[in-house]
Amino acid sequence: MPAISSSAPGKIILVGEHAVVYGQPAIAIPIHQLRARAYFLANPAGPKGRIHIIAPNIDLEKDLEDLGETHPFTRIFELIKSQFEIEHFPSMDVKIVSDIPIAAGLGSGTAVSIALIRGLVQFIGETLDEEEVSRLAFEVEKIYHGTPSGIDNSVVTYGKPIYFIKNVKPEILSINDEFYFVVADSGIKSETSQVVRSVRNGWQNAKIQYELLFNEIGALSTQAKDYLLEGLREQLGVLMNKNHELLCRLGVSNIILDRLVNSAIMAGALGAKLSGAGAGGNIIALVPNNRIKSVQEALREAGAVKVILTSLPKKK
Ligand code: MEV
Repeated sequence: MPAISSSAPGKIILVGEHAVVYGQPAIAIPIHQLRARAYFLANPAGPKGRIHIIAPNIDLEKDLEDLGETHPFTRIFELIKSQFEIEHFPSMDVKIVSDIPIAAGLGSGTAVSIALIRGLVQFIGETLDEEEVSRLAFEVEKIYHGTPSGIDNSVVTYGKPIYFIKNVKPEILSINDEFYFVVADSGIKSETSQVVRSVRNGWQNAKIQYELLFNEIGALSTQAKDYLLEGLREQLGVLMNKNHELLCRLGVSNIILDRLVNSAIMAGALGAKLSGAGAGGNIIALVPNNRIKSVQEALREAGAVKVILTSLPKKK
C-alpha cells in the first residue's frame, strides 16, 4: 500500500489564451475526470537519499539524480528542498501516473508537477497553502513554457474555475447555472512552449496588430465572466466563436482544429473554439444538454480521437 498519494486535475482554457501571457484576462476551468496522481513510499532499506522515480506514461524509470538538473522533476525536489531547508530527502520510491493526454493543451505537465509538490510536502510531514503550491508549480512551468502567464498552475492548484490576470491573485468564480462543455482531442501533439514562442515572434514583428488582437481577446474574457455568472449560455457561445476567430488571426489554429470547431457548431453547439496553446491539442464546445450526444458524435466523425464531457458547476 502506498504511504502517501496526491493528485491534481487537468484543465481547459475557456477564453483568453495567449492574450493572457501579455497581461490580458482569461478564464480557465479544471477537468476533474482527468487527473495526475503521485504515490510516495518510504524505502528505509534503500541507499541514503535515493529517490527512485517510476512514470509509466512517459516510459521513465530512473533515480532522480540521473534525470539531470534541468528536468522538471529535479526542479520540484530542489524547490521543496530550499522551501523547507532540507539537506537530504529520505530514500523513497515515487510513482507518477496520469490519464491526462500529454501535449494536448490539457495541463498534463502542470498536473503532474502539482501532484508531486503536494505529495512530497506531505511525505516530509510539512504543509503548504494553495498559493505556495501554485507559486512553486509556476517555477516548474517556466521549464515547460518559457514565458508562462501562470493561469495553468493556478487553475490546476485551485481546482475551480478562475478569472485570471497575470501577477494578480486569481479570482475563483462561483458559477451556479449549468454549462456543458464537450472537449475533443485532435490527436495532434503540440508543445505549448513552441506555440507561445511563435506568437511572441509574431508580436515582435507586428506589435501594434498583435496588441489589438490581445486587447480584443481580453475584452471577451471580461464579458465571458459576466455571462458565466449570469448563466447566459447563448451569449457565451457566440463569444467563444469570436475568440476562435481571433485565435485564427493569431495564427495558432489549423484546418484540423477548424474542422472540429465547425462540426461541433453544425451539430448544435452554441459555440466552440480551440483551447490552450493551439496548433493541435483540444477544442472545447459549449453544448445545450439536448445536443450533447449529437455534438459528441459529430466530433468523432470529424476525426476527434477522444471526446469527453465536462460541466460547470462541478457535480457533487
Ligand atoms: C496555455 O494553457 C495557455 C497559454 O496562454 C500559455 C500561458 O498562459 O502560459 C497559451
